[in-house]
Amino acid sequence: MNSLRLQMQIYLLLVTLLGVAAYGQRVPAIHPVSGRVIAPVMSAAGADWLERAERENEESPTKAVALLGLKPGMTVCDLGAGTGYYAVRMARLVGAEGKVYAVDIQPRMLDLLSKRLSAAGIKNIEPLLGAESETNLPPESQDLIILVDVYHEFSKPQEMLRSIRKALKDTGRLVLLEFRKEDGNVPIRLEHKMSLTEVKAELDPEGFQIEKVLDTLPWQHMIFLRKK
Ligand SMILES: C[S@@+](CC[C@H](N)C(=O)[O-])C[C@H]1O[C@@H](n2cnc3c(N)ncnc32)[C@H](O)[C@@H]1O
Repeated sequence: MNSLRLQMQIYLLLVTLLGVAAYGQRVPAIHPVSGRVIAPVMSAAGADWLERAERENEESPTKAVALLGLKPGMTVCDLGAGTGYYAVRMARLVGAEGKVYAVDIQPRMLDLLSKRLSAAGIKNIEPLLGAESETNLPPESQDLIILVDVYHEFSKPQEMLRSIRKALKDTGRLVLLEFRKEDGNVPIRLEHKMSLTEVKAELDPEGFQIEKVLDTLPWQHMIFLRKK
């Protein structure tokens, strides 16, 4: 095991333990359709990891955001936004006439994001507190909702997908970025990865169809879905 891989494994173990400490002892939940083990929520205590300098090399976020097809004036959502690493990059592309909702269930993440927005004078991102099974987004309002390393943490994935579906415009797209479970060389713990088979099995019954899959990012699937 090389040192980068070891560091990632130790980090994710730490984050898992912090999550368990924050949210109480939990028996791992299993997705009722796919049998996937649902990962614990990453604690805000590990928020620094989201802003690590190596992330550009590991995930190519600049390339990922460019592939979203965002246009000025769009209304979009970074769901499970954390510190807003992706939201701030998306905000540049939708411009002043557009809007990015940055939703998270951890108030501490939203505090970190709000401080960042004030410091940078960013006005087109709205932090929004979500719930375990509810985005709290306005109905049929979103051109695109992206989940970056988030879907596998949803404790109520079916309910969340129903809420996401309601928030999307009929023409809107849902984009998942998930570490590739099929690739043993991606140095991430198994419950923080997803396979395309799992994505299809879990999202198809909730009324989403895969439009395209891009596997051009270093470690992640980039999966574009539409409402069926
Ligand atoms: C691994 S972090 C990724 C953060 C961010 N997307 C990024 O890539 O920098 C996962 C985030 O998803 C959030 N999350 C988990 N379940 C959620 C839910 N049901 N609704 C909204 N956010 C959620 C967590 O609080 C956490 O901030």
